[in-house]
Amino acid sequence: MQNLVKVAILASGGGSNAENICKHALEIGIEIKLIVTDQEDAGIISRALRLNVPLERICYDRDLGKKDHEMRIFESLISHNVDWVLLAGYMRILSPCFLSKFWDKTLLENRVVNIHPAYLPDFPGKNAYRKAFDSGVTESGVTVHFVDSGIDTGTILLQEKIKRFKEDSFEDFQQRGLDLEYRLYPKALRKIFKSGE
Ligand code: GRF
Repeated sequence: MQNLVKVAILASGGGSNAENICKHALEIGIEIKLIVTDQEDAGIISRALRLNVPLERICYDRDLGKKDHEMRIFESLISHNVDWVLLAGYMRILSPCFLSKFWDKTLLENRVVNIHPAYLPDFPGKNAYRKAFDSGVTESGVTVHFVDSGIDTGTILLQEKIKRFKEDSFEDFQQRGLDLEYRLYPKALRKIFKSGE
């Protein structure tokens, strides 16, 4: 039987990337042990229910702060025997302390991966499609990268470009990017988890 890598997905929003990863899990060689969201009413919640994947809502509590929030997430990941963390629209910056718990001394990377909707190093941070579109570039892209303690600065696993045509609405441009995201994230994950085959 195939040895599946145990992963968790962290998501804050609609969850379309998380759902796409769940659908491709077997072919990537992973088992989704858990989805964690930090938002009370994120779209990912109904998707996880529909997909029958365990979901935990671990919301940020201002009084308790970031350290406590990350600790609650970490404890949940550990209780589900998770070895890798996949970020899919997760809108918080993970601290060096959290990341260090997933340090892989063979890979020399944290076992944490993110998808970013731009051709890094261009347009890091939030609202990357909007920033690229408004800046008037003729192309942008999507990047899948390991996560380090910077903002979208980790080692790049895969990236591809998308065109931005003059007649594009923002929605056209963003949809072109999302279509690429759904293709690129599974491809990058296969590169990590199926490289031995
Ligand atoms: C995606 O564009 C992702 O790249 C970005 O946030 C968006 C999340 O969409 N970080 P979804 O929650 O996966 O539908």
